[in-house]
Amino acid sequence: MDIKIREVASKDKDVIETIIRSNENFTDEEKWCAAELLDMYLKGTTQGEYLFICAVNEDDKPLGYICYGKTPFADDVYDIYWIVIDPVWQGKRIGRALVKYVEDMLKQKGARMIVAETSSQQKYEKPRLFYEKVGFAEVSRVRDFYRVGDDKIIYIKRIGELEN
Ligand SMILES: CC(C)(COP(=O)(O)OP(=O)(O)OC[C@H]1O[C@@H](n2cnc3c(N)ncnc32)[C@H](O)[C@@H]1OP(=O)(O)O)[C@@H](O)C(=O)NCCC(=O)NCCS
Repeated sequence: MDIKIREVASKDKDVIETIIRSNENFTDEEKWCAAELLDMYLKGTTQGEYLFICAVNEDDKPLGYICYGKTPFADDVYDIYWIVIDPVWQGKRIGRALVKYVEDMLKQKGARMIVAETSSQQKYEKPRLFYEKVGFAEVSRVRDFYRVGDDKIIYIKRIGELEN
């Protein structure tokens, strides 16, 4: 299928909220936070710190999105805060296409590094494998960060001149 990638717009709000709600990985608090961030972005109150890009089908309907932004206090470093694909459309390289799109755009801006964080829980195995497949490497693990037995795992991808 032909997908296009574009910025998220107000008309996408309901579809993207449905995608967030339909993902089993997220707790209610995480779903609320992801939706709240989307709302703030659409209202223009995130001051460019959180940017949303989506992949859409031929009918311009979002199938998944990525939320990223410049990491405060670090030179040319960006964070991926959320990447969420409609469960029906997972495994079809939409996540890969979104990361590549953002990465290419950030390269143009002179970015050095992209950071992504995830959990060590079994249910996050898929995102971990995904990040590794799209070129991220685990650089740090904070034991028991989210809760006892649930570590925070930090992945980075070096881009631009530092690429490896
Ligand atoms: C993780 C997620 C974003 C991946 O997006 P996706 O579109 O399903 O992944 P893609 O089809 O682009 O896969 C890209 C690569 O990752 C690998 N990958 C994806 N899911 C995988 C899985 N379950 N097991 C092994 N590898 C996997 C694929 O093999 C693929 O490699 P290839 O292109 O070399 O074949 C998506 O599954 C998702 O939305 N998960 C739920 C939400 C979530 O947990 N988000 C991350 C935290 S914010």
